[in-house]
Amino acid sequence: GNSPQQALIKLHEKAKEVYHHMLVNTAAGQLALDYLLERGLTQELIDEFEIGFAPNERQFLQQVFANEKVDSTLLVQSGLFVERENGELADRFYQRIMFPIHDVKGKTIGFSGRILITPDYPGENQPKYLNSPETELFNKRQVLFNFDKARPVIRKENTVFLFEGFMDVIAAWQSGVKNGIASMGTSLTSQQIAIIERVAGEIVISYDGDNAGLKATDRAIALLDEHSNLDLAILQLPEKLDPDEYVQKYGSEAFYELAYHGRETVFGFKMAYLRQNRNLSNEKEQLDYVTDLLQELAKVDSLLAQDRYLTQIATEFHLSRETLQQQLSEFKQKRR
Ligand code: UTP
Ligand code: MN
Ligand code: MN
Ligand code: MN
Ligand code: MN
Repeated sequence: GNSPQQALIKLHEKAKEVYHHMLVNTAAGQLALDYLLERGLTQELIDEFEIGFAPNERQFLQQVFANEKVDSTLLVQSGLFVERENGELADRFYQRIMFPIHDVKGKTIGFSGRILITPDYPGENQPKYLNSPETELFNKRQVLFNFDKARPVIRKENTVFLFEGFMDVIAAWQSGVKNGIASMGTSLTSQQIAIIERVAGEIVISYDGDNAGLKATDRAIALLDEHSNLDLAILQLPEKLDPDEYVQKYGSEAFYELAYHGRETVFGFKMAYLRQNRNLSNEKEQLDYVTDLLQELAKVDSLLAQDRYLTQIATEFHLSRETLQQQLSEFKQKRR
């Protein structure tokens, strides 16, 4: 067809091809390619995800489309260029490793570019990742990286792994976890949750193991609680690693094993999360912690699970099970 939307998609598909070519076939892409291979990617993965490189030139992509006589209005609408003060266009993405972003049907609708730091290009004051701006095609709140490729696997397993970033999705894929997607830095939106809920019954939150990741996990739990009926599980990584770093350090098999046998419950996560920054040898802080835990426990659906956790809390803090049970019942009443 010839709709403006389709013309924009065509333009993105072309840009994707050209960036990919630059990465895998040219001298300009050599350092970027070395960098990716150094990080453990393979040629197959680079092809599978159609990763590319935008060279350090401000007129590179523009030249490509000038040769094809593409209408300048379309170029502006694509978001792949920025308008300079004199009205001229310049490439938005340069000196960046390019991750194409697809819609649910697999059409290319945007990019995210990761800066490539080299001795000649320190990249100071530049964001690590730069995304396409909002365009007619690209609405960040509705996009999930890799959803198009992951969808059949998500359906089959009824489960989706939610990662923070591109490299995490790719590292997981390489490890055999092919039902991974990423919300790309922003906190999960209700639109994204709706897309996920159409194909999955369960979501495994697999954010980075650093403090920011733990915080984001806590927020995602609240959002998913509020906006979905999905079952939740948490994949928590040790040593503040992110999934990509974990795969590099411990290998693909270890990651796969953890992904399928090392998941935690939401309550298990909360026990560890709420314990942070608390001195449990202080009596008041200990009681605050137990109170917070019981409030979380009131949200747990399974009575059997509640029973087990109550015993655990009673034992650890030398509290009577009856009292704990009573407090829990009160919190459950309040939730009705
Ligand atoms: P992270 O900050 O965890 O990426 O952001 P990272 O693990 O350090 O990146 P690598 O592994 O060195 O490449 C996770 C995700 O958040 C988004 C990107 O989608 C990224 O993959 N992000 C991050 C941005 O959109 N902008 C940024 O400046 C940084
Ligand atoms: Mn980072
Ligand atoms: Mn992170
Ligand atoms: Mn990370
Ligand atoms: Mn990383």
